[in-house]
Amino acid sequence: MEKLAIHGGTPVKTTPYGTTNRFDGNELKYLEEALKQNTLFYWKGGFSKRLCEDFAKLNGVKHCAVTSSGTSAIHVALGACGVGPGDEVITSPITDMGSVIGILYQNAVPVFADLDPHSYNMTAETVAACITDKTKAVVVVHLAGNAAEVDKIVELCHKKGIYVVEDCAQSYCCEYKGKYVGTYGDIGCFSLNDFKHISAGDGGMVITDNSELYHKAVMFADKNYNRFGEGVVRNSPHVAPNYRMSELQAAVGVAQVEKVEEICRKRNAYGDALTEGIKDIPGLYVPKVHPDCKSSYWFYLIRVDEKELGCTREEFAKAIRAEGVGAGAGYIAQCVYEMDMFTNKTAYSDLGCPFSCPFYGKEIEYKTGLCPNAEEILKTCIRMECKEYYTEDDLKETIAAVRKVAAYYQSMK
Ligand SMILES: Cc1ncc(COP(=O)(O)O)c(C=O)c1O
Repeated sequence: MEKLAIHGGTPVKTTPYGTTNRFDGNELKYLEEALKQNTLFYWKGGFSKRLCEDFAKLNGVKHCAVTSSGTSAIHVALGACGVGPGDEVITSPITDMGSVIGILYQNAVPVFADLDPHSYNMTAETVAACITDKTKAVVVVHLAGNAAEVDKIVELCHKKGIYVVEDCAQSYCCEYKGKYVGTYGDIGCFSLNDFKHISAGDGGMVITDNSELYHKAVMFADKNYNRFGEGVVRNSPHVAPNYRMSELQAAVGVAQVEKVEEICRKRNAYGDALTEGIKDIPGLYVPKVHPDCKSSYWFYLIRVDEKELGCTREEFAKAIRAEGVGAGAGYIAQCVYEMDMFTNKTAYSDLGCPFSCPFYGKEIEYKTGLCPNAEEILKTCIRMECKEYYTEDDLKETIAAVRKVAAYYQSMK
């Protein structure tokens, strides 16, 4: 039995992880061109338009609008769908707050659907269990580059007149049944924050085939100003924020979109190979990817059965790290609904809005136990990295390190 690095043995990983310069394409060239336009305003310059054209084409949809972040993209999508006070919006309990903030800002009530224990995504069945006569929309999160069964969710929702917004912040170019996610629902939302597959520092995009939703989305991201005709019409019946993207972000975004398919292809190859290398380890569960899905692995989340594995997940993650492989116990600290703003209903000060909104007229309670699968996932997961610039050696050594640590704890059982 090889001595673990954590016990003073030799670490498995001998070579440093591959690195990259993410902005070594046309970013600088386009930034210079953007500045030379003498305007950085999205409606006047060329880069926001180009980003929309390129990203719509990449996804095979008619329309794309740009926003200031992924959070704002989702808010814009909900605004375009007419979500408002008293409405319920179903979403995932394991996600970034960006999936939920727009729901709250529209004074709507988030309802959390449980997850598949191994894909970590909502299913048509868990969504169906949450639908009421108040459900206006579902925000389907495709977590960590992996597709939720969005086709089935759309079929279910559209029969009932419920909008489907896809949160693809973590799932660029994730192919599912022959199309990219983001193109199944009414609107798909993407983030260009610095941690995503591609970055413009910050920024967001919404895509849709629906021309009416597109027009509403563009206006909702721009104070509901209507710039589509001659001049600007500022008079609007509804309030909307300023979530505009600047031409500087768009210039970087255009250069980044040029690379996104290649980035996702490499991540898919690395993640799938990692799965092949560790899937037979007793007590360790690799992420479940649908046979017709090519995950773009924003990160790589495994789960452990501590009894089977012979150690706690904290011990396991620590031992892998000592072997030189990046791994951390857990993902987000708790399910979204376990956060204070939900359990105490203090999203807007102490007034209880939007949960106690008279238009809602219902009682909702957020507490531990609401989504048992999601809670279990968070208690048992280990997060590993999956980058497009990782090398063959990185892959081999990562697999070897996980196998070495698992073999040691198995032998100790
Ligand atoms: C699933 C998901 N949705 C929404 C967002 C929000 O994106 P942004 O940070 O660009 O607002 C994120 C960002 O982390 C995310 O991971």
